[in-house]
Amino acid sequence: MSLVSLKELMPEAKKKHYAIGQFNINNFQWAEATLRVAEREKSPVILASTDRIVDYLGGFKLIATTTKKMVEEMGITVPVVLHLDHGLSVERCIEAVDAGYSSVMYDGSKLPLEENIANTKEVVDYAKKQNVSVEAEIGSVGGTEDGITSGIKYADPKECYQLVEETGVDLLAAALGSVHGIYQGEPKLAFDLMQEISTNLNIIPLALHGGSGIPSHQIVKAIEYGHAKINVNTECNQAWTKAVRKYLELHPDSHNIPEIMQTGMSAIERVVAEKIHLFGTSNKAL
Ligand code: 13P
Repeated sequence: MSLVSLKELMPEAKKKHYAIGQFNINNFQWAEATLRVAEREKSPVILASTDRIVDYLGGFKLIATTTKKMVEEMGITVPVVLHLDHGLSVERCIEAVDAGYSSVMYDGSKLPLEENIANTKEVVDYAKKQNVSVEAEIGSVGGTEDGITSGIKYADPKECYQLVEETGVDLLAAALGSVHGIYQGEPKLAFDLMQEISTNLNIIPLALHGGSGIPSHQIVKAIEYGHAKINVNTECNQAWTKAVRKYLELHPDSHNIPEIMQTGMSAIERVVAEKIHLFGTSNKAL
């Protein structure tokens, strides 16, 4: 199956109260492990590269071509979205669209609202012509991602409605207390705001960033209150490093690379399977 955009998947997910997992890739083994689980679970899935990791992975074209080839060679039949996470500029989003990504996020959350809207609209106008979906961000997700640290700033509902209405985005990452990376104590998601914003956005779903480390009951509530996409990166990376570290401690003289790497991939697979079950997407690709 070729890559699909979130336009095809989001409305059904919001209506039926499940959330499609976005799993960030840190190399192509992350993609392979994630695809294997999605296929086994008959679950739609989102593979994402953050803008800051694109060059390390070989550039937009290499990522898009390799992902498509993996989907084909692995005989993947479930819907797969290739998404640019936190696109840093309009130009970078356009580059991703041109390279074959099926979805992009433009992150103008640090800009004044009017500028965020103008840039997001430019991305939407370009992406729409290629049937590529667009996610926007408003407010500030806290924590650290790709070495950049930010504080939490809760999204303002009125700004959310204005941004969605004036840009025509397919989904909105409204910052509501989540953080990228590791939480200090219990996450404090603003469920009242979440419910209000989601209800007023009608069919447009919310995207939850910082999906690692949020207790299951809060995830279930966030899905109930309109999140149809949940991003996971840290938990896969923690699982990979823990498993590989343990293997190397037990086998200090080993240089059996396939065995070392497979240990890490199996750990990622366990996290992805757990998230797919929690987010309710098993058998949703049928
Ligand atoms: P975590 O690393 O906290 O899982 O967040 C992932 C994310 O939101 C990517 O944009």
